[in-house]
Amino acid sequence: MNIDNIRLEREEDFRDTEVLTREAFWDLYRPGCVEHLLVHKLRKTPAFVKELDFVAVCNHRIVGNIMFSRAMILDEQQGKYEVLTLGPVSVHPEFQKKGIGSQLIRHGIVCEREKGLKALVLFGSPEYYQRFGFVNAKEFNIRTSDGQNFDAFMVLELYNGSLKGIEGRYFEDSVFQIDMREVEEFEKGFPYKEKHITPTQLFPG
Ligand SMILES: CC(C)(COP(=O)(O)OP(=O)(O)OC[C@H]1O[C@@H](n2cnc3c(N)ncnc32)[C@H](O)[C@@H]1OP(=O)(O)O)[C@@H](O)C(=O)NCCC(=O)NCCS
Repeated sequence: MNIDNIRLEREEDFRDTEVLTREAFWDLYRPGCVEHLLVHKLRKTPAFVKELDFVAVCNHRIVGNIMFSRAMILDEQQGKYEVLTLGPVSVHPEFQKKGIGSQLIRHGIVCEREKGLKALVLFGSPEYYQRFGFVNAKEFNIRTSDGQNFDAFMVLELYNGSLKGIEGRYFEDSVFQIDMREVEEFEKGFPYKEKHITPTQLFPG
């Protein structure tokens, strides 16, 4: 689908982006969602990379957003390596499956390569992210902070060999640990939306 452009998010877009994120994630991974609060809080953390906070605009409406934040891989010798966490990424449900998500992700990747950044890490659908070159983190001997590996834990080297010699545990910013009481408070600033249990949910409750 032709979008008008992909550009940096501006302060006046913040509310629209949070509304869009809420629509995209609602009932998808749990009844309701937390990602609109995550977006709200992420912008205020030092880990947030504001030069990599993009919105997709279609007919002057924000229909997609992607954000990146600084994260760490720590090895056994206390070596620290900076990588980026991809996400949240969201496309408004009315505009999904039209290529906008792919355009946002590819745009992010190109900008990160230009900046010489090393690698992206995310938790997401292998089926979706493989198309951008993401592979299981296990291939680089990278584990979660509590030492796990699973299919959804994926890594992309931003240039060939960028992760050579780097392995260990991955730590995303603490902002990703969302307090459900804070979500309930934040929800009061949005029009009421009913929560449902759906088959797509990994974290029901
Ligand atoms: C994931 C998301 C950003 C993709 O954006 P999009 O504009 O719909 O994606 P595109 O049009 O570029 O690509 C669509 C393709 O991705 C697939 N896809 C989208 N989400 C997927 C998912 N969670 N798992 C597997 N495949 C997925 C579609 O089935 C479609 O496949 P096809 O190309 O084989 O037909 C969007 O669907 C979204 O906002 N989803 C809700 C929020 C979310 O899950 N974000 C990612 C969290 S890791």
